[in-house]
Amino acid sequence: MRKDKLLNPKSPAKARSPWLWIGTWSMGGEGFGPHDERESLKVLHTASEQDIRHFDTAGFYGHGKSERLLSHILKTDREEYFISSKGGLVWEGRKVEYRASPENLKNQLYESLERLGTDYLDLYQLHWPDPKVPVSESIDALKELKESGIIRSWGVGNLSEFDIYTYLGGEENIPHQVHFNPIHRNFAVLHSGEKECINCVTSPFEQGLLLRGKTLAGQEGIGKNDFRNRNPYFSDLKVLVWIKKLNELLLNCPIPKTSVILMWICSQPHVHAVIPGPRKPAQLNEIIRFRKDVEKYGLLSSPEDTSILSREKTSEVIPKDIWNRLSKGP
Ligand SMILES: NC(=O)c1ccc[n+]([C@@H]2O[C@H](COP(=O)([O-])OP(=O)(O)OC[C@H]3O[C@@H](n4cnc5c(N)ncnc54)[C@H](OP(=O)(O)O)[C@@H]3O)[C@@H](O)[C@H]2O)c1
Repeated sequence: MRKDKLLNPKSPAKARSPWLWIGTWSMGGEGFGPHDERESLKVLHTASEQDIRHFDTAGFYGHGKSERLLSHILKTDREEYFISSKGGLVWEGRKVEYRASPENLKNQLYESLERLGTDYLDLYQLHWPDPKVPVSESIDALKELKESGIIRSWGVGNLSEFDIYTYLGGEENIPHQVHFNPIHRNFAVLHSGEKECINCVTSPFEQGLLLRGKTLAGQEGIGKNDFRNRNPYFSDLKVLVWIKKLNELLLNCPIPKTSVILMWICSQPHVHAVIPGPRKPAQLNEIIRFRKDVEKYGLLSSPEDTSILSREKTSEVIPKDIWNRLSKGP
C-alpha cells in the first residue's frame, strides 16, 4: 500500500500494523448490551502488548467513557500511540445532537484531551457533518487547530461523494471515516476520495451483525435497549438469509470468519485502514489472528497498490464461493 496513505504516531517504531486500528465505541459500555469495563481494559492493554498502536475514539462514545478508558494505556510512551478522536456529535440528555460549529469543535477537543490525559491528538475529526453548520466552517476550525499544534492532523467522517467533491477538492490524503463492509457497500464513496482521502473503514462487521450465529440471528439475543435494534440490517430478511448462507459456506473454510471478512475489506481498492471494535478479549484475539493470517499468507500489497492487501493474493486464499458471495453482497 502507498506510504502516503498510512498514518503514523510521532514515534512509529512499535506500530506494527498502522492500517489496523482498534475502535473503542462499544467499550464505552452503552448500547451494545451487557458490558464489563475490565474486559475492555484488557482489550486495550493486550492490543498494546501486541504492538497495535492505533486507536480510534470519540467524546460521544459512552458519554466520554471510551476516552477515559483509553487514557489508561497512554500514561507512558504517549508518542508511540496514534490516537484519533472526533467532535461534532454530542449527547443532550438522552438525545444525540450535532454540534460542529468552530467553537463547539474546539471546546469538545479540550474535553477529549482532558479525558484522555494527553496534551495533543494525532488526529481530530469531524464526526458527522452538522446540518446547521456549513462543512467548510467545521473544516476551517479543524485546520486552525492543526496550525495551533494541538492536533497533528485533521479529518472527517461520513461524507457523501458530493461532500468530498465540494469540500475536499484540492486536498490530499485527508483521513475520512467511511462505513463500509460486504453489507454496507459504500464503494462509490471510497472511490470518490481516491486522491483526497485516507479511507478508514468503520463498522467492518456491521456492528457485529456479520459475526452473529448460524441461524437467522439478527436481533435475536439483543436486549431491548441495545441501540443496534435501530440498525435496519439487523431485521432485514434478505441480509439475514445472505449471512446464514455465508455461514454455511464458512463451515469448511480453514480461515476464521473474522479474518475472511477483514481480508475481503482490506483487499478492496482505496481502503487504507480498518477499524474493528472488539470489546472482549476473545474478540481482540480474533483480530490478532487476522493480522497473523495476513502475515502467514503474505497478503500485504506492494507500495504502488491502492489497497492494504493484494487483491490477487487474497482472492486466491479465500475459497472462491466465499469470495464471490462477499463480493456480490446480499
Ligand atoms: N466515524 C463514525 O461515525 C464511526 C461510526 C461507527 C464506528 N466507528 C468506529 O469504528 C469502530 C468499529 O465500529 P463498530 O463498533 O460500530 O462495529 P464493528 O467493529 O463492526 O462491530 C463491533 C461489534 O461486533 C461484535 N464482535 C464480535 N466479534 C468481534 C471481533 N472479533 N472484533 C470486533 N467486534 C466483534 C461485538 O459485539 P457483540 O459483543 O455484541 O457481538 C462488537 O461490539 C468503532 O469502535 C469506532 O471507533 C466510527
